[in-house]
Amino acid sequence: MSDVHIAGTGIWFPEDIITNDEIVSSFNSYVDNFNNHNKNDIEQGNIEAMEYSSSAFIEKASGIKTRHVIDKKNILDINTMMPRVVHEDESRLSIHAKAGIDAAKKAMDQANVGPDDIDGVILGTSHAARNYPSVAIEIQNELGIQGYAYDMLVGCSSTTFAINNAYSDIASGLANTVLVINPEISTPFVNYAKRDIHFIFGDGCVATVISNNKKSNNQYKILDRKLITKFSNNIRSDWSYLVRAASDEKSIEDLLFYQNGNSVFKEVCPMVAEFITTHLKDNNINPSEVSKFWLHQANSRMVNLIVSKVIGTDDFDTSLAPLPIEKFGNLASAGSMFAFNLHNDLEKGDKGIICSFGAGYSVCSIIVEKQ
Ligand code: COA
Repeated sequence: MSDVHIAGTGIWFPEDIITNDEIVSSFNSYVDNFNNHNKNDIEQGNIEAMEYSSSAFIEKASGIKTRHVIDKKNILDINTMMPRVVHEDESRLSIHAKAGIDAAKKAMDQANVGPDDIDGVILGTSHAARNYPSVAIEIQNELGIQGYAYDMLVGCSSTTFAINNAYSDIASGLANTVLVINPEISTPFVNYAKRDIHFIFGDGCVATVISNNKKSNNQYKILDRKLITKFSNNIRSDWSYLVRAASDEKSIEDLLFYQNGNSVFKEVCPMVAEFITTHLKDNNINPSEVSKFWLHQANSRMVNLIVSKVIGTDDFDTSLAPLPIEKFGNLASAGSMFAFNLHNDLEKGDKGIICSFGAGYSVCSIIVEKQ
């Protein structure tokens, strides 16, 4: 079998930026309104008063300083507290397709491939834009790519699992070059009135060209992949097509993203550290040989803890584990490949590890070597 490479990547993110102070100021105004409006019930003990958020907490707990979003104005407006979008409609490109096409063109340029070189398009994301037709097929059509295309959902591991599928397709002879696209338009799914969630997510998209054709001069050979899933209710989003027909009552807010962040932190960090350690060992790679850890951008403390467990010390150069989360927030499944796109200055022969972890739980690590 010929080697399979990451031949190029591209990213898209919206122009609007929200700082921690801005998101906290909006949230705290909402809290004031809520507490004033419910003053009597709060005094009588029927309702709990809401507590303020704080920029200091957000930066310390998550590492996030800013996030790029599709609609700053409406997210910060306490009468809306969500971005405004339009319905999916056959008369125009979907928001996911627009983001995907922008990132895909950059990835294709970097990989030095055109539409004719691509045999398949795999789109992985945490939140489906619609049920069908697949956004991947919409993008395939728009870019003039032949072959096949499909969407897949694996929460925050959608990007790495999609890269894994691309690898398998190439390794099995089904394709030579596959375009993987991961739009993560998360802000419509954020409950901006929830103190422990309102600061976490940003919007963005990454695209990756996986190929066995040596066309790019910045390519990384995929040495090995390892995947695991383990069921957990700690990160859920229950929104679905069944909502219309459900006979029991739930508010829209109850169906949005929610998590038990602290349990996720405690359970996932050791699980991922052990997973990466085993993966490296299985490949006879000493952790000290890893030049870059491109990890899922859920939380900077998680990234640093996982890396310190793998390499055996918390005394390491911050460039070893890039943290685009500081600027972009949590980009769901796109985070690890955003880190890869922005920080892939390795020398020939250097090794790195891409690793996702998230809802499911799901974990996927991919060991790569700069060519
Ligand atoms: N502002 C100020 N204080 C806040 C706050 C906010 N916005 N949100 C929570 N707090 C308070 C809590 O009330 C709690 O107070 P207490 O100690 O008096 O009870 C304290 O801060 C700690 O809360 P906790 O929820 O334990 O925070 P944390 O340190 O676990 O950080 C997350 C919260 C969400 C940043 C963190 O748990 C995390 O990132 N987890 C992983 C999430 C993840 O990977 N999810 C996958 C999705 S991709």
